[in-house]
Amino acid sequence: MVTTTDHCRDDFPALRREIDGRAISYLDNAATTLKPRSVIQAVSGYYESNGTNIHRGKHRLSEEASDAYESSRMVIARHIGAAANEVVLLRNASEALNLVAAGLDLDPDARIVGCLDAHHSQLLPWRRIGRLDLTRVDAHGRLDREHFRTLLRLRPKAVVLTHCSNVTGVIHPVEELIAEVRAACDATIVLDAAQSLPHRRISVRDLDVDFMAFSMHKMLGPTGVGCLFGRSELLATLRPLTVGGGMVDWVDLDGSVDRRIPFRFETGTPAIASVIGCAAAIRYLEELDTDKRHQYDQELCAALVGGALARPALRLIGPPDRTDRIALASLRLDNSVSAGEVARLLSDSYGYMVRSGHMCAQPVVTDLAGGEVLRVSAYVYNEVSEIEGFYEALDELLTWMEPPAPRG
Ligand code: ALA
Repeated sequence: MVTTTDHCRDDFPALRREIDGRAISYLDNAATTLKPRSVIQAVSGYYESNGTNIHRGKHRLSEEASDAYESSRMVIARHIGAAANEVVLLRNASEALNLVAAGLDLDPDARIVGCLDAHHSQLLPWRRIGRLDLTRVDAHGRLDREHFRTLLRLRPKAVVLTHCSNVTGVIHPVEELIAEVRAACDATIVLDAAQSLPHRRISVRDLDVDFMAFSMHKMLGPTGVGCLFGRSELLATLRPLTVGGGMVDWVDLDGSVDRRIPFRFETGTPAIASVIGCAAAIRYLEELDTDKRHQYDQELCAALVGGALARPALRLIGPPDRTDRIALASLRLDNSVSAGEVARLLSDSYGYMVRSGHMCAQPVVTDLAGGEVLRVSAYVYNEVSEIEGFYEALDELLTWMEPPAPRG
């Protein structure tokens, strides 16, 4: 049994935080992960020794910053099996998905097939530009494959998949889904990998996906960097979402000439320090043994699922096993208890940081839970004992919050 990822907690300075003398437990990793020291140093190193703009000046410092920025793009691209010019660096995965949705120039009547458990960022951009049909999920959050096949018969122009739900933690069988799409129609396939890539290696070539969005801050990187992978021939036909400085080669009174891909999608000064920090994040993750990391994720998942199933007061929103899912559990509490209030008390009285609400995926939360949930999500630096401690704290809190029994 793997008991720790050997253990890397000392690499994460934020884990030393205490609240009222009590060590914190950070269990909100699906929202964002903490940053290892190497990432923090890469960011502060750029500001301490350089701090200049990229792709503009010809002076030494600007050239150095541009090189560091572009080498980070290469590290990101290599991590997913892409070429560097197929990776667009944006502010977040939401911006990446908006760019594809708007840039494909679909007819307003175009059919688009998505998933009910999509994050709002993989739902609203598509609903805005076409007719979006959502594939149902079963009571445990697994995709209804028959319904998916039925929707493919509508001959959609785009199929927009969610690799891993940020509510149920379910990893959908996207390899099989993509094969079904390819056999059924010639839709463009757009994958939201924001929750899966932090937990699994993905090769965009093996997956045969057209576009893939992901978020570096959910995989130990700094905030402010979302990435869009796009097959080069498709990126070349995509319309830029924003125009302005940095994305053009030539401007005169009659018009302008866009730069080559991926630069034509990157308008204005980017998050230079954060992008440079991303290379350090990926190096950190790649240095952890992949098999061991996966096994450890499963162990954390088992503790999350087991803890929920052992408590009749909690309803687990997601499968009652750890097959094809990440270390994440959403819990529906009794109707009389506010998930937000519980999250606040868990933090301030016990030191547990968890998320509450609709998780920016309200359709699936409403469908499966009927209201707000409490979400616990673990990552490489968490311990099984923290998850056990979380459940014990929740038990105590729920007992204490129970409404008094009616008199008489
Ligand atoms: N999408 C992020 C989450 O699930 C913010 O919490």
